[in-house]
Amino acid sequence: MTVPLEVGAEAFREVMAGLAAGVAVVTTVDDAGAPRGLTTTAIASVSIDPPMLLVCVGRGSRTLSALLSAQRFAVNLLRRDAESVAIRFASREEDKFDSLDWTPAADGSPLLQTHALAWAACRTVREVDAGDHVVFLGHVVEAGAEGDHKPLAYFRRRFGTFAPTGG
Ligand SMILES: Cc1cc2nc3c(=O)[nH]c(=O)nc-3n(C[C@H](O)[C@H](O)[C@H](O)COP(=O)(O)O)c2cc1C
Repeated sequence: MTVPLEVGAEAFREVMAGLAAGVAVVTTVDDAGAPRGLTTTAIASVSIDPPMLLVCVGRGSRTLSALLSAQRFAVNLLRRDAESVAIRFASREEDKFDSLDWTPAADGSPLLQTHALAWAACRTVREVDAGDHVVFLGHVVEAGAEGDHKPLAYFRRRFGTFAPTGG
C-alpha cells in the first residue's frame, strides 16, 4: 500500500477507523454546575507517575467550553452493555443526563459508575491546540474500577467488545 503525501480527511478517517478503541464518556460541569459530556475514543494513557491521561475534543463540541472553563473532567470507560449511553453522549441531545444514573466525583465531575467498568477524575494540567481538536492533558486525582465487566469497543464505525485470542 502506498501513502500519498497529501492525505485527505476521508483517507485519514478510513485509516483511523482501523484502530480498535475503547469507548469513554468524558464528563465535566458547566459554569452553572450542570453536568455535560460527550462520547470519545480519542483518549490515551500518558504517564504512570504521576498518573496522567489525555483526551482529544473537537472544536465543534458543545462540551468544549465547559471543559475549558472547569479545568477538570472525568473519563468513564463504558461497559459492553452501555452502547445506548455512548449513542446518547454522541448526540446533540439537550440534557444527556436526564434519567441517567450518575454521581459526582470528589471534585464534582460526573461519574457514570453503573455504565462504566473504570473511571478516572482528572485535573486539567495543560491544553494543546491540535488542528480542529483540543488535547486535554489531565492529572488523575481519583479513580476506580467496577469489577469484571467487558468493555464497549469501536472498530470500523461499529460498536463491539473485546474477545481474547487465547494466545
Ligand atoms: C464512537 C465515537 C467516538 C467519538 N470520539 C470522539 C472523540 O474522541 N472526540 C470528540 O471530540 N468527539 C468524538 N465523537 C463525537 C462526539 O461524541 C459528538 O460530536 C458529540 O455530538 C459531541 O457532543 P457535544 O457537542 O454535546 O459535546 C465520537 C463519537 C462516537 C460515536
